[in-house]
Amino acid sequence: MKKTGILGGGQLGRMLLQAAANYPVQTFVLENDPDCPAAHLCHQFVKGDIRNFEDVYNFGKGLDAITIEIESVNIEALEKLESEGVKIFPNPTVIKTINNKVLQKQFYKENEIPTSDFIVTQTLDELKEHIGYLPAVHKIGLGGYDGRGVQIIKTTADIEKGFDAPSVLEKMVTIKKEIAQIVAINEKGETALYPPVDMVFNPDLNLLDYQVSPADLPEKILWKVEAISIAVVKNLRSPGIFAVELFVDDKGDVYVNETAPRVHNSGHHTIEANYSSQFDMLWRIILNYPLGNTEHIIPAAIVNLLGADNYNGDATYEGLNDVLQLDNVFVHIYGKKQTKPGRKMGHVTILSSDKQELIHQANRIKNTLKVVSDINQ
Ligand SMILES: Nc1ncnc2c1ncn2[C@@H]1O[C@H](COP(=O)(O)OP(=O)(O)O)[C@@H](O)[C@H]1O
Ligand SMILES: [Mg+2]
Repeated sequence: MKKTGILGGGQLGRMLLQAAANYPVQTFVLENDPDCPAAHLCHQFVKGDIRNFEDVYNFGKGLDAITIEIESVNIEALEKLESEGVKIFPNPTVIKTINNKVLQKQFYKENEIPTSDFIVTQTLDELKEHIGYLPAVHKIGLGGYDGRGVQIIKTTADIEKGFDAPSVLEKMVTIKKEIAQIVAINEKGETALYPPVDMVFNPDLNLLDYQVSPADLPEKILWKVEAISIAVVKNLRSPGIFAVELFVDDKGDVYVNETAPRVHNSGHHTIEANYSSQFDMLWRIILNYPLGNTEHIIPAAIVNLLGADNYNGDATYEGLNDVLQLDNVFVHIYGKKQTKPGRKMGHVTILSSDKQELIHQANRIKNTLKVVSDINQ
């Protein structure tokens, strides 16, 4: 049985391990927190820091393959392991490019992939010299995640919100829709595209609020989304699962926003709604089996379960009984012991061939199911 390691033990690792149970594979997880969502589903949990060279190298030495569930990992260790014959999904060079928003934007530009215009700034003082570029979005090169590290700079008054570190300043796109396109690519370079999804964001937390799949797109825009996403993945030259986030603007132009080189929140519905889920697909790629069928069986929506405001502590799930009474609704609780405001604690997938019904149920579930704690702080 092939030994495969996952760097990071969050919900993505957890769902990857749920899919691994169907394959001849022995699984290992490296993560600091022995109570993390993935710790109890793998064959072997290893406590350690995914950003530390020694920890990652020692973890990977005896393995056949490694994948990631988060990009902030020790890339040097992965490069050494790769040179010693361990297969890394995606390749470390890809993680390096994507991990840094400056390098990522430069990659799009070098490969003539449509993306919003940008300039690179090194300091906050330098940002102040680019008032003519506003309205724009300032994104820190390294270390941003889930909305942290992104600031909208509309006017000079907003400039203080910018980052005093290497960053990109992107022209603001008039977004009509945000789309995510998941692409699978194997070692032979064969690709498979999932139907794109419509992502609807919560403006306060900057986290995905709900999403609908397949996205409602005119055929020509769909073609652009697919062609651009394929171009991103082919130019990255690495096997794996990639989630390409794109903007469609008011003129129908399509731009790449960013790419995740791994399974992604925008693909969770594929567990129930598509023949081969993004997690199933990644195992097919890692273990060198044929790619799966990405087609959807039925349209789906996803609601993220975020920790409710004002609650910090041991998580409890209010309204779970009511939601579990609904037909064609699938609850995924990630098993995080502690809740805090805005923390991703789970998601709910809704299936229906009626799109209005999907949105109606999504809102109903958002209002019914709450992650709270016994102590209200
Ligand atoms: N150039 C842009 N123009 C308009 N809105 C943007 C732009 N870049 C990012 N955004 C908004 O900010 C959100 C977060 O930015 P993103 O780069 O995806 O960061 P994160 O790493 O937090 O996901 C996007 O989903 C989008 O709504
Ligand atoms: Mg994003």
